Amino acid sequence: MSNDQLISQEIAAIEVSEKLATGVIHIHIREHGRSASAQRSQEAALEEAIGLALSINLDIKHSQAIQLNRISPSTLMGSGNVESLAAMIRSFDIKLMIIDGILSSIQQRNLERAWKCKVIDRTGLILEIFGERAQTAEGSLQVELAALKHQRSRLVRSWTHLERQRGGFGFTGGPGERQLELDRRMIDNRIIKIEKELESTKRMRGLHRKARERNQMPVVALVGYTNAGKSTLFNRLTHADVFVKDLLFATLDPTMRVCKLPGGREVIFSDTVGFISNLPTQLIAAFRATLEEVCTADVILHIHDCAHPDKEVQTQDVLTVLKELGIEEGQKDAPLMIQVFNKVDLLDEDDRDILFNQLNRQPHSMAISAETGEGVPPLLSLIHQRLMEQGQIVEIELPSHEGEILAWCYRKGVILSRSDKEQTIYLTLRLDKGELKKFIEYKKGRVASPSTLIL
Ligand code: GTP
Repeated sequence: MSNDQLISQEIAAIEVSEKLATGVIHIHIREHGRSASAQRSQEAALEEAIGLALSINLDIKHSQAIQLNRISPSTLMGSGNVESLAAMIRSFDIKLMIIDGILSSIQQRNLERAWKCKVIDRTGLILEIFGERAQTAEGSLQVELAALKHQRSRLVRSWTHLERQRGGFGFTGGPGERQLELDRRMIDNRIIKIEKELESTKRMRGLHRKARERNQMPVVALVGYTNAGKSTLFNRLTHADVFVKDLLFATLDPTMRVCKLPGGREVIFSDTVGFISNLPTQLIAAFRATLEEVCTADVILHIHDCAHPDKEVQTQDVLTVLKELGIEEGQKDAPLMIQVFNKVDLLDEDDRDILFNQLNRQPHSMAISAETGEGVPPLLSLIHQRLMEQGQIVEIELPSHEGEILAWCYRKGVILSRSDKEQTIYLTLRLDKGELKKFIEYKKGRVASPSTLIL
């Protein structure tokens, strides 16, 4: 076996696991200066890459941002950078280099050879994190599928989490053509099997959703850039003990809880996976199923971290992912949106004033702190208000002798709350739009005494 092959095998055997000595390099390519993602400050981008690496407890020995004027097809960066980084890698005995950018399989292999350590790019890192965080069987399958597809398209390097999961189903680096063919076939078989399994879990979820629809319980989905505070808010809203940590992507599987809004109306809150910039389309596709809850939600809470230096770019990234899922505000049948500006407790007086002034001019938005609870009660009222805008939930005061109308309400709608006071019945009910129209007409003809209908 040649020296190169030996090194490749050693590198392939390195598992991306806790406490691994790691270097993080953020790549900034000058030519792409006009794109939204490139606008983010380099420090913030490097910070985010470090945060991603720390979220799976890697031991970061070195981090740096590198600006490139041009991309080298063989090693991404020029030979000067490759050499100086090689010296740094030796001095810290680094085993894993994370390139926060996109590496072709050739670039990855050449850098591994030059640096004699494992090299992964942003997609590889995100896959590792997703693999660690997936909590349900479905989540794990989706991650595995995304990883396999990623690997299938490159097939030079192993994805260590996958190997760990499967007890050494290794696609060792640099194998011969026959081995590559075998690996390819093995991956294809596994992909087919996973897709079948996912199909059946998807059917199950569809059934659950139908059951919920019958219950007519509105769904409020929380979306936002990773670390924006979705789980913290979800917990505050539902008093649930969802995994909250200062870790990126702490949430991978949607978690749903029923919660009461002011007035007693019940809604389902759904916490979803955190979005992130440069999320490979492959991964978006893999998580489409998980994010289906978002597509069918009645209201979407878009959580922004208003204390983050890159908040605008993060917002754009989330909107891009939502668009990929087919959700654009204002489109027919699109869920209603509420913009939630979280972490106001971290703003100084001036920034708070600026934000509150801005929100005064922006309907359907609310400043909150999920941590302290500030702004959460008005947020719940805003959700209530937005649901009412859909024209599906109505509040009715009925004179108590209107037995026929009352019976109609019970037959056609879902009673969300009822209270009887003296000669009046106060009802909150959910009606579909068609029934609502009929109700208004029916009421005109039949109700003699005044009763109120508030939309
Ligand atoms: P992902 O699962 O990565 O998508 O994250 P997430 O959006 O669910 O964020 P999470 O709720 O896990 O919060 C991330 C970090 O922000 C945690 O350390 C929280 O304690 C912190 N955090 C959340 N909300 C607030 C807030 O209102 N104020 C402050 N100061 N910190 C907050």
